[in-house]
Amino acid sequence: MKPVYITTPIYYPNGRPHLGSAYTTIVADFLARLYRALGIPSRFVTGTDEHGEKLERKAREQGKTPKEFVDEMAAEFREAWKKLLVEPDRFIRTTDPDHIETVKKVLEALREGGHIYKGKYEGLYCVGCERYYSEGELVEGKCPFHLKEPEHKSIDAYFFRMSAFRDRLLEFYRGNPKFLPPGRKEEILNRVKELQDLCISRPKEQLTWGVEFPFDPEHVTYVWVDALFNYLTASNGAWPPDIQLMGKDIMWFHCVIWPSLLMATGYELPKREVVHGFINVDGSKMSKSLGNVIDPLELAEEYGADFVRYLLIAKVPFRDDGNIVRDELEKIYRELAGSIGNLANRVLRLMEGVRSTEFRRDPAVFGEIEKFRKELEKQLRELNIEKVLDIYGQGIQRIAHRLNSYINEREPWKLDGAERDEAVLNAYRGLVELMKLAAPMLVEGARKFFKVAGDGKPGETRLILYPPKSGIKSS
Ligand code: ME8
Ligand code: MG
Repeated sequence: MKPVYITTPIYYPNGRPHLGSAYTTIVADFLARLYRALGIPSRFVTGTDEHGEKLERKAREQGKTPKEFVDEMAAEFREAWKKLLVEPDRFIRTTDPDHIETVKKVLEALREGGHIYKGKYEGLYCVGCERYYSEGELVEGKCPFHLKEPEHKSIDAYFFRMSAFRDRLLEFYRGNPKFLPPGRKEEILNRVKELQDLCISRPKEQLTWGVEFPFDPEHVTYVWVDALFNYLTASNGAWPPDIQLMGKDIMWFHCVIWPSLLMATGYELPKREVVHGFINVDGSKMSKSLGNVIDPLELAEEYGADFVRYLLIAKVPFRDDGNIVRDELEKIYRELAGSIGNLANRVLRLMEGVRSTEFRRDPAVFGEIEKFRKELEKQLRELNIEKVLDIYGQGIQRIAHRLNSYINEREPWKLDGAERDEAVLNAYRGLVELMKLAAPMLVEGARKFFKVAGDGKPGETRLILYPPKSGIKSS
C-alpha cells in the first residue's frame, strides 16, 4: 500500500523558524504520526526553499556565499524541528543534487511537450548597476544604490503556457471536489477564469543563485517552479501527495500553478491542498515592533515540546485564523498537567498492589474511546483533515475526563480484592488506550508513559508527566 504522503511548504531560510512555520510543520508531523498510530503508513516531508534573490542578498549582507548561508540556516531548521519532536522522513533542500536533477528534467519535459515559449518580460533595469531589479528590491521605487528609478526594459524570458490549462483545471476541480480547500474555492475559481501564462525564468543578470535552464544557460528557473517540484523529488515512491499543508498566503501557487505544471508534465495530481489560517498573538499579527513575537523554541524550553504541540494542535483553530493570548499560556499548561498529566500519575499509583491482569472491559471506559478512534479513523481515511483537527483535542480531553470521573465514581480505594483490581485495571487499560491516541501530539509524555507502563503492568508507579513550573501557581 502506498503511504499517505504529507507535505509542508518548504520554508525560506532567510530567517529562523518561527511560530508560523512551526505551526504547519507540527500539524504535519502530528498527522503523519496519527496515521501510523492507526496502522496506516505515512510519509512526511518538510524542508527549505533555498534559491532566489532574497537569499542571495541576505547572504551577501552577512558576508557569506549563498551556499554557506543556506547551509547554516538549513541546519537551524533541522535542529528546531528536532527540538519540537518533529521527525520528517526527509528534510529536503532545493540545493540537494537530486532536486536540481528533478527541476532540469521538468523543464525539459515542459519544452518537449510544447508548453513553454520565449517571450518578452517587462523588467526594471538599473543602468548604474547593470542589472535588473524586482519590485521588492527597490526602495520607494528606486535602485537602493543609485537612488534612481530603474528603466523599463523588456527582457527575453521563458513562459509556461498556463492559460491553456484553464478548462482542464476547472474540469479537474469539478471531478475532484476535495482538491481545493473548503471555504476558499470561490476565490480560486474566480481567479482561474482569468488565468494567464506564467513567466518561469529570470535572466542571469538578475538571478544567478538558482537552477540554470538545461537548454539555455542564460536563464535561471523562477523560484516557485523550483520550489514546488520539491514534492516530487522527495516523494520516494509515495507519489502523489495526499495532504499538502500550507497557510493561506501560498494557496494560489499550490491550487492553480502547481496542478497546471503537473498536468503539463504528466504526473498524477495531489489529492488535497489543505489550507490553514494564520496565527496571531494577543490579537495582532506577530511583529518585532509590537513585541508580540512568540519563539516556539523558547516556549519549548520553558514548557516542553509537548506543550507547544498541544497548544498548536488542540488550542488553535485550524481553518480560520487563530489567536494565542500570552497571558493564557500558563493556564493552558495547567490544563494539560491537570487532565492527562494528573490522570497518568493517579492511575499508575492506583496500580500499586494490583495482582491480577484479567478484567472485564467496562463500556463506561471503553465506549467513548472506541467511538473516538472509529471517528478519527474514518475522517483520516477520507482525508478530512480540517475535521480531524476540529475533533482531536476535544476528543482527547473528553476521554481523560471520562477516565477521571470513572475513578471518582468507582472509588477503588474503598473496594478490595477482585473488585478493586477490576476497577483499577479498567482505568489503567483505558489510560493505555488514551496515551496511544494522544501520542502523536504528546510525543514526549507518551514516550515516558510507555517506558514505565508498557502494555502490561507498570514497573514504576511514580510518573510526573507535566510537573508544576516554577512561577506557575498550581491551581
Ligand atoms: O512561502 N500562521 O515560504 P515561507 C500560520 N518558500 N502559518 C504561518 C504563519 C502564521 N502567522 N506565518 C507563516 C514560502 N506560516 C515558500 C513556500 S512551497 C513549495 C514554497 C507558514 O517561509 C504557512 O505554512 O514564507 C505559510 O504558508 C508558510 O509558513 C510560508 O512560508
Ligand atoms: Mg512568506
